[in-house]
Amino acid sequence: MNGISLTHESIGQRRPTTKWSHPRLETTIELYHVYAEKPAAICRTLKDAVVLKCDAFNEVICDIQPHRAGVKPIVPTLVNCREIYCVEVDPKRVELAQKKFPEAEFICGDLREVEFDSGKFDAVFDLSTIDHMTFEEAAKVVGKYHSWLKPGGTLLIVAWLTFGASTTRENDMTYESQYYFNAEDFTKLLWSMFDVTERDALFGSRSGPLLVSYTCRKVK
Ligand SMILES: C[S@@+](CC[C@H](N)C(=O)[O-])C[C@H]1O[C@@H](n2cnc3c(N)ncnc32)[C@H](O)[C@@H]1O
Repeated sequence: MNGISLTHESIGQRRPTTKWSHPRLETTIELYHVYAEKPAAICRTLKDAVVLKCDAFNEVICDIQPHRAGVKPIVPTLVNCREIYCVEVDPKRVELAQKKFPEAEFICGDLREVEFDSGKFDAVFDLSTIDHMTFEEAAKVVGKYHSWLKPGGTLLIVAWLTFGASTTRENDMTYESQYYFNAEDFTKLLWSMFDVTERDALFGSRSGPLLVSYTCRKVK
């Protein structure tokens, strides 16, 4: 359905691997440009699609925090879409994003609570929204993404992971804390529901947490 190349070494295996590629991006703005490219690339393979892009951070942060002026909005890059939905918990971000991008429907809500019909979406893009909740809550939300996707649909999910125990810290970007999930637990969670077709280590140090993206396909 989506034509995404199957590049990861774990293709064909039903168990997660612990091998990781090294992060290769030097600045956070460079990182955001890679972010912006991933949902766009998935959308180019779709037709008349209905998509969910979680949170409105990328759409408005350049207006709110001048040092993040280089962060690209994702919504205008989502080609081939009939309907675009964004769920964001911060009402000010929702209001601003809705004014800037009327082509999408911005819903003020919490992903842990909102509901959509099952099988509604061709693709769900969660770019580090999931790691602003506990692992147990994240597991339930990933289950919701699975239910909301059509069979064959794509989940792109980005999260901060650690190789030790899960940790958390306060965040300057939002009132939600930043969580760092254990890498193996998070990988197993995704594999328990999806086929993971690509995994990419985006940003981080060799010894510290890594920001990792997974492209996942709903097969059952
Ligand atoms: C700090 S940003 C990072 C994510 C951003 N997409 C990126 O690319 O870096 C997290 C965003 O998710 C929103 N958010 C956090 N928890 C949420 C939840 N449970 N439901 C919906 N939005 C949430 C925050 O208000 C914020 O705009």
